[in-house]
Amino acid sequence: MNILLAGDLAAAEFDLWHRELARALPHDRVLRARHEASAESIEAAVVANPPAGSLQGLPSLRLIQSLWAGVDRLLADPSLPHGVPIARMVDPAMTEAMVQTALWATLALHRGFFAYAQRQREQVWRVHAQRRADELRVAVLGLGEMGRAVAARLAAQGYRVSSWRTRGARRAGAGAAPGVSLAEGAPAFLPLLAESDIVINLLPLTEATRGLLDARAFAAMPRHAGLVNLARGAHLVDADLLAALDSGHLRHAVLDVFTSEPLPHEHRFWSHPQVTVLPHAAALTDPRSAAGIVAANMQALREGRAPSFLVDRSRGY
Ligand code: GLV
Repeated sequence: MNILLAGDLAAAEFDLWHRELARALPHDRVLRARHEASAESIEAAVVANPPAGSLQGLPSLRLIQSLWAGVDRLLADPSLPHGVPIARMVDPAMTEAMVQTALWATLALHRGFFAYAQRQREQVWRVHAQRRADELRVAVLGLGEMGRAVAARLAAQGYRVSSWRTRGARRAGAGAAPGVSLAEGAPAFLPLLAESDIVINLLPLTEATRGLLDARAFAAMPRHAGLVNLARGAHLVDADLLAALDSGHLRHAVLDVFTSEPLPHEHRFWSHPQVTVLPHAAALTDPRSAAGIVAANMQALREGRAPSFLVDRSRGY
């Protein structure tokens, strides 16, 4: 089978993906560019935010496998061939990385470690009150693979965890983890935020979730709550978050994702003392494990089985 690798990747990263995919797919040909084979012979594409139009004119294409978990940018390309199934990346190694980031952010917010880091910069020796994990209420927005795993781990860590999903997200068998309460739909959103000391966003970006973290959401959150955005920058209204931090209503935000990436130098998030910025690094796709996930989906395609983690285009994830 001819498989096209296409993506907005730096040369070294592209080479690494090519090498790992070629290793995981020894009986297939992984193409670095479409001119390496006839358009008719290309049956699958493995993509990482491919340039617009790069999958057009491939009449035999049967699967588009994303290397990213979030497919919002891919789906926003109007030239994406209709009717070809799209699979998103679900890799336990990536999920575990996301769990680690969420755990770190939650622990640091809970125990005030970001505040201590700021006090070090100011050479201030001052201890604040120490709370137990079971005194903290954490809301996890999004009940996909990552949201579920994060909620489960935080609950195991002793936090009081609730999860929330848009009602349209209902999927058979996709309940909350043991010990995690579940809220669903728009009417439950603000009441849940009102009872959350820490809010962690792991929602997919869709028209229903764009701009969800706005002034109304922050006003609903208790005074001194913390926000962790690990999903997409467009979930968040930046100016509303800055206002909520500046007024002292919210205590701290951990942000991994931004509307414009890299985060522009002049953006206030960079220097704001109550914002911790990560360079979209909460959970990277690891070619060493992800290549095996791609190979399993290609095997399914070859055997006429349904590939795993197919995207529902009408839902947007
Ligand atoms: C990263 O943000 C991804 O979608 O994989």
